[in-house]
Amino acid sequence: MSQHHKRPPSSLIFIFGGSGDLNHRKLAPALYNLYMDNWMPEKFDIVGIGRRPYDQDSYRTHLFNGIQQFSRRKADEAGGWEAFAQRVAYLQMDAEKEEEYQKIAEIVKEKEAAYGEHPNVIFYLAVAPQLVPGIVSKLGPLNICHDTKCTRVVVEKPFGHDLESANELNKLLASMFDEKQIYRIDHYLGKETVQNILALRFANALFEPIWNRNYIDHIQITAAETVGVEGRGDFYEKSGALRDMVQNHILQLLCMVAMEAPVSFDADEIRNKKVDVLHAIRKISKEEVHQYAVRGQYSHGWMKGTEVNGYREEKNVAPDSPVDTFAAVKFYIDNWRWQDVPFYVRTGKRMHEKETIITVQFKAAPSYAFPPEAAETWRANRLTISIAPDMDIRLRFQSKRPGQDLTLSPVDMIFSYNDAYEEHEPEAYETLLLDVMEGNATLFMREDQVEAAWKVIMPILDAWENREPVDFPNYGPGSWGPEDAEALIARDGRNWVTLPAPHQE
Ligand code: BG6
Repeated sequence: MSQHHKRPPSSLIFIFGGSGDLNHRKLAPALYNLYMDNWMPEKFDIVGIGRRPYDQDSYRTHLFNGIQQFSRRKADEAGGWEAFAQRVAYLQMDAEKEEEYQKIAEIVKEKEAAYGEHPNVIFYLAVAPQLVPGIVSKLGPLNICHDTKCTRVVVEKPFGHDLESANELNKLLASMFDEKQIYRIDHYLGKETVQNILALRFANALFEPIWNRNYIDHIQITAAETVGVEGRGDFYEKSGALRDMVQNHILQLLCMVAMEAPVSFDADEIRNKKVDVLHAIRKISKEEVHQYAVRGQYSHGWMKGTEVNGYREEKNVAPDSPVDTFAAVKFYIDNWRWQDVPFYVRTGKRMHEKETIITVQFKAAPSYAFPPEAAETWRANRLTISIAPDMDIRLRFQSKRPGQDLTLSPVDMIFSYNDAYEEHEPEAYETLLLDVMEGNATLFMREDQVEAAWKVIMPILDAWENREPVDFPNYGPGSWGPEDAEALIARDGRNWVTLPAPHQE
């Protein structure tokens, strides 16, 4: 546990949705781990806001249980939890009633007096998307912090439901807060392996010269999950895979892979480079959506020996739901670096493995000088970046098999985080919460990024909404998605890449 880093300034953190699932699973464990690693400010308090009737003790017990279940570090380490819990309080209030917001203003005053200074006042909106506008419009007028730079609002995804609602939400936020105070979260950007993409690309001389259309055949991004909608049917019915994963997480990964080199690591510089990528993505017309995008929905079936419900049998899901639990899209980026290089992306629930990987497939080297049998196992170089759950980078190249014959086989050179480093990597939410306290917005979505990402997927959403799917459910649990997704890439003479199963390595 390092004692020597600079801690963020005093912070008072209000969590709307304090009794909800996100706080229980992610936020409270992240704050606890930051505390245990000495990353929390000297002076801080966390106030969970919710409607459920907890008293202080039962609220702390509720968070303790979440930490025991979901945190990378359990809450029974010597004295840590007791000390942390003293800084946690619960405020029962109805966030829809304007008059109740005075309770917040009073807590701010009380803490300011106790700290002897203005703390950062952070409002984390871990609530259902439809509640966000109501809360934002009641927070703005509170005027609790004279220095607007100290008050910050953190907005969880989904950010809007489509381009229009995202625009409206951005306008509402802009009427209450300065853009510098708004932190739109995409938790993928907090993952260590995602941040490492910039290090890999720009801190090494090796990759950047060949990171373009001259050497790269195509790029793939897969974000597959084995879970179903896990009791979130209500939310998912209004969302679907394209909105839930592609509009945000997957497009962000694509931006990290495709962006130009930044001239500094300044928040706006990085975000400018990413937004350039989004603007350069070729717009798909509604008429040609079927050539570029495939949707799917999982059926009832068996996964690794367990019987699982189909999507339409999940709680709070319509029995004839047209909602996509799988989406695959082929994108093109029209700029000098990427012209004509396809980016194939796919994501789905109830798929064969949990795996988020990025594959950079290079063009094949010419094979004519080798004997014909060598050509049988001829494979192009491939760089695979595993984001989760494995955290590694593997570079595939050709090697001569030992023996008198000139036989080749592809081999992988593997860098594994767990083998290379002793440190435990922080969870994405730890990194992001620390950044909010420090006022560093690099890993958060700026207004124009969110809107540009919506613009990319709107034609697909519109086409899908106007045409009911005729073949749902169209993939079995435990598979790699619908046949049409295989066809999407096979038509171009390529195939989806998956990691080798562990026992085959
Ligand atoms: C969330 C989606 O943003 O990301 C979920 O709403 C999805 O549906 C989750 O399961 C995946 O995150 P991770 O970090 O487990 O890959």
